[in-house]
Amino acid sequence: MNRNPLIPFGLIMVFGLGLMFLLSFIGLDNAKELANGGKETKNEDVSAASPEEIYQQQCLSCHGADFGGGAGPALIGVGDKYSSEEIQDILKNGKGIMPPNLVPGEKLEEMAQWLIELK
Ligand code: HEC
Repeated sequence: MNRNPLIPFGLIMVFGLGLMFLLSFIGLDNAKELANGGKETKNEDVSAASPEEIYQQQCLSCHGADFGGGAGPALIGVGDKYSSEEIQDILKNGKGIMPPNLVPGEKLEEMAQWLIELK
């Protein structure tokens, strides 16, 4: 019956360490979730974004919150001026000081259609 008096302390230590790791893993997981909350939505936005969201992120600064223009021309009525193909071409290649490739390729058609329907 000569038990080592340190055993209870050892057990407490092991338990404590275990708890510590467990909590930090839970913490890591939460941190990932938090980070994803910010980042992933942004990445997803590009492929899942509506034309309106793309407009707000990429175009509004030059074409204005109400599509009335600013650094770039007004976009209302752009459908009377250009066909869908021509607008896609402008979005893809840029025009004048307008930078190219602001709209991801798979969104070009949808974006052009949305611009044509702007009122
Ligand atoms: C850096 C400023 C800037 C940004 C950002 C920008 N544009 Fe432009 N955009 C311009 C300018 C300037 C023109 C006129 C170019 C010219 O005619 O020389 C233009 C022209 C256009 C035209 C043709 C309009 C016309 O009447 O000729 C369309 C359509 C258009 N932009 C759509 C968009 C869309 C959609 C986005 C966002 C994906 C966007 N632009 C982002 C500056 C910008």
